[in-house]
Order: sequence, then C-alpha cells, then structure tokens
Amino acid sequence: MSQEKMTVYSSKSSKGTLFPLRSMLVFFIALFGFYVCYFSFTQVDFENEEEMTDAEEQTKVVCRRPSVIPYEQMQYVHFPRPMTYDRGECACTPVRFFVIVSMQRSGSGWFETLLNSHPNVSSNGEIFSVRERREDIASILRTLDKLYDLDWRTSAAKNECTAAFGLKWMLNQGLTDYHQDIANYLNEKGVMVIFLFRKNTLRRLVSVLANDYDRNVKQLNGTHKAHVHSHEEAEILARFRPELDVSSLVLSIRDAEQSMESCLVRFRSTRHMILYYEDIVRDDNALSRVQEFLGVPVRRLSSRHVKIHTRPLPDLVENWEDVSETLKGTEFAHFLDGEDYVK
Ligand SMILES: *[C@@H]1O[C@H](CO)[C@@H](O)[C@H](O)[C@H]1NC(C)=O
Ligand SMILES: *[C@@H]1O[C@H](CO)[C@@H](O)[C@H](O)[C@H]1NC(C)=O
Repeated sequence: MSQEKMTVYSSKSSKGTLFPLRSMLVFFIALFGFYVCYFSFTQVDFENEEEMTDAEEQTKVVCRRPSVIPYEQMQYVHFPRPMTYDRGECACTPVRFFVIVSMQRSGSGWFETLLNSHPNVSSNGEIFSVRERREDIASILRTLDKLYDLDWRTSAAKNECTAAFGLKWMLNQGLTDYHQDIANYLNEKGVMVIFLFRKNTLRRLVSVLANDYDRNVKQLNGTHKAHVHSHEEAEILARFRPELDVSSLVLSIRDAEQSMESCLVRFRSTRHMILYYEDIVRDDNALSRVQEFLGVPVRRLSSRHVKIHTRPLPDLVENWEDVSETLKGTEFAHFLDGEDYVK
C-alpha cells in the first residue's frame, strides 16, 4: 500500500510548486499508515494478553472437587465465578444450587429465615414475584442464570464463602406453567430442589384468608405484615377469625392437594427432598437433614419469626361448626384435629 502511494507522489512531484502541500499529504498518509499498523499490532498484543490471562486464570481456578463428595452428586457441586466480585479465599469452596418450591402460607418465609441464619447458606427470596422475570421461559432462564452465577446481591447475600445458594419459588410464579423447561434446566444446571409443603391444607387456607384480610385492613398500625417478629403482633393478627366458604371448601382443598401432587410428579426427575412444614415444627432433625442435603455443616438454625396461629383450629375459624360438618366423612376429615405447633 505505501509503495503505491510513493509512486503517486513521485509522479506528481514533477509539478514543483505544490511540493510543500504534497509532502504534507504524504506525511499524513504515512502517519495514518503507521497508525493503522500500530493499532493492529497492539490489538494482536491485546489478544495475546487475553489468551495469557485466560490460561492463567484457568490454571488458577481449576478447583478440585472434594473427594468426600459421592460420584452421583458431582453434577450438583459448582465453583461459580461471579463477575461482580471475587470469591477470594473461597474461590474453591464448592457451592450447591438449590430452589425451595412451595406454596403461599406454607411456612416457607420462616423456613427461609432459618436457612439464612446459617453462615454458608444464602436464599434470595421470591425472585419470581416480579412479573417481568417470569413473563416467558426465556426471562425465567435468564434470571436463573444470573442468580446461579452468584451475581445476585440481596440482603441474604453472605460472604465469599457461601456454600449453598438459591431462591424460593411459589408454584403460581411461573413454575407450574413452564414446568417441563424448568425441570430440564434444573437437571442440566445441577440445581437441587427442596419441596416445602404443608400437610394440613385446612390450616393453610385459614392462614391464606387471614393474610388476605390483613392485606386490606392492615391491623398492625396501618401496615400489612405477612410475618411477624413479636408475640404481641401475632396475637393481634390471630384475633381475626376468617369465615370459610363451605360450599367450595372441599373443592379448594382438593385443588391445593392436586397442585402439590402434580408438582412432585413433574419435578421428580430432579435431585430433591420433600419437607413438610409440620416436620420442621415437630421434628428437631428435619433441619439437620436439610443442611446435610445442601452439603453445609450442620448447625442450630434460628429465626425471629413468631407463629401467628397457634391455637387449635376451632378457635381460628368463625364458622367452625359448618366447616367441621362439611369435612366430616370426607377424605379431609383428618385436617379437623390437625395441630401443627408445639405446645
Ligand atoms: C462457611 O463460612 C465460613 C465463614 O465465612 C468459612 O470459613 C467456611 O469455610 C465456610 N464453610 C463451607 C463448608 O463453605
Ligand atoms: C403501634 O405503634 C405504637 C406507637 O408507635 C407502638 O407503641 C405499638 O407497639 C405499635 N403496635 C404494633 C402492634 O406495632
């Protein structure tokens, strides 16, 4: 290229008067050529540099999977490398990904605060309560990818030494609608599932109605609270006794039961554990099993949540006579005397 320009120059140089202008032109062309050459060289340099650091990083960050982890669990052990921060000394601390699958008023809020009291567990709440994140399967998967890259900072974020990272996901937050794709994703990504359901659907229903009522009435000094941290607050919220619609009662219990059952069937291919709210309340070992499942050291977990409805069911429902008449003789009669609290 530069040779061509030289010829152009020499052919024109015969017209002597324009010489200073021409030489300036040549100077600029040469400068431009030099600039192009320099730029492409430096780019080559950059590329080389990038390859170098990539290779360096790869050797640096190849983490050995701990030999204590059984072979069949390998795909559930991860070494994520977040973009927004450095995992520092814990870059090679293995991380389990999890999702808590649940329904509203099944104790999952309480369960999540228990989990988050563990120094190595970070559960990031109902991230799919935001509608745009679940408007189609693409946005769901994008959101999950971002979450599991650990680039998702919430109040539940721990330090670099998080060893179990996840979210809470309600059946009606896109999970049922896209169950096939989501189950595939969870299996491919190596995400474990904790199903958290409530055995006594009748009690759940009471809690749903009471919570809906408070959403409107805002009994605690004008603010709605789905969960409370003191016995005074719990006492105030428990004063309201909902009236159940007995004509649709059996149907709505059956509906809820079916949602749970089909969820378990649809996600049975995932690595999972099934946990009942009633088990966490009664069985001291339930939380240890969860921690073992998540691969974190077992600790005593705690929560500031205070249970709202602690009294026997007949005291919680306005039209108890009707309700018990309706359920007697049905497959749900056992809910009538179900207690889910420790006296
Ligand atoms: C848990 O977190 C602590 C404190 O950050 C850290 O020292 C420890 O290595 C972590 N343990 C696991 C199993 O990740
Ligand atoms: C309502 O507000 C008053 C005054 O600030 C406070 O003393 C009381 O504890 C609050 N009650 C509840 C249930 O939050």
